[in-house]
Amino acid sequence: MLAAICTAYGGPDVVQLREVEVPAPKDKEVLIRIHATTVSSGDCRIRGANFPTGFGLMARLIFGLSRPRQPILGTECSGVIEAVGPGVTRFRPGDAVIAFGGAGFRCHAQYRTMREDGALVAKPAGLAFEAAAAIAFGGTTALHFLRGAGRLKRGERLLVNGASGCVGVAAVQLAKHFGAHATAVCSGARSGLVRSLGADAVIDYGSVDFATSGERWDVILDTVGNAPFARAQAALNESGRLLLVASGLPELLKAPFQSMTSGRKVAGGPAPERAEDLALLAKLAESGAVRPVVDSTYPFARIADAHARVETGHKTGSVVVTLDVS
Ligand SMILES: NC(=O)c1ccc[n+]([C@@H]2O[C@H](COP(=O)([O-])OP(=O)(O)OC[C@H]3O[C@@H](n4cnc5c(N)ncnc54)[C@H](OP(=O)(O)O)[C@@H]3O)[C@@H](O)[C@H]2O)c1
Repeated sequence: MLAAICTAYGGPDVVQLREVEVPAPKDKEVLIRIHATTVSSGDCRIRGANFPTGFGLMARLIFGLSRPRQPILGTECSGVIEAVGPGVTRFRPGDAVIAFGGAGFRCHAQYRTMREDGALVAKPAGLAFEAAAAIAFGGTTALHFLRGAGRLKRGERLLVNGASGCVGVAAVQLAKHFGAHATAVCSGARSGLVRSLGADAVIDYGSVDFATSGERWDVILDTVGNAPFARAQAALNESGRLLLVASGLPELLKAPFQSMTSGRKVAGGPAPERAEDLALLAKLAESGAVRPVVDSTYPFARIADAHARVETGHKTGSVVVTLDVS
């Protein structure tokens, strides 16, 4: 099969298509023929060894010292079950699925194996493969933070910093689904998009600083990494929660102390890959409550260009890569 191999840490051109063996499904595993995948901000971080402040050494120990230990990146995909291993009961060949491999990667290939009890769910029939590939990475992250440490409740005010990105577009839509009021912080050019996703208010970060605007929110979700507690606290209600989706190690180390001394809650860290979260997102996408947002679509042969697009830091939603399935 063809796989996009990340041959070294570096720019988009370190990603090259190469022939590798099709993996064989082991006990309780399925083999997925991938129709669509995404290049996520996570893929670009690993490829470029662009780890958040303070995580450099730890990340290299986990992901590979001089090049990615797992050379096939790609956290999420949609496709069709090609074969099943021994003991598989939930899926059959021919089933259309959405898979979230997360930190296990391996979705930038024509085939990927996956445990049937992993983050693997049936693809809603009405959802195209391209859209289905774009719901897991941002959606599970937003869900984890908003329902977990955020404890976002009906009627509360949420501010999403970086609302037009992959995590941001999911957060705005989930907030509306949960009955919260959503303020989206994005560039002026993205204001129409975030309004169409349900944002009640929009702040253009080019002209207004939300942190000094005098307004306050119950929950602030920072997907940009420029709203640490020192900046965001003036914009948080007294029992407000600050969710650091993108943050360096120093901010995460300070979070427990800031939570203890301020009466507010500061939380961050990695979001997990959970089948039940993916199932909920698939259901919400099927009902139209959460619309996958696709920035652009590239054929597999141009996956390096897809990396370059993500690298700009200004995509809207997800960059999708389609595989030639004939
Ligand atoms: N903790 C976790 O488990 C976890 C999971 C997933 C992602 N992440 C991290 O979360 C971050 C965001 O991920 P993503 O996939 O959503 O990224 P993304 O899709 O690349 O989105 C970045 C967005 O940030 C916006 N932006 C840039 N500068 C801004 C500013 N000064 N103020 C407000 N918005 C600004 C851009 O909008 P404009 O084009 O309008 O400028 C863009 O839409 C990444 O650092 C990623 O590594 C963490």
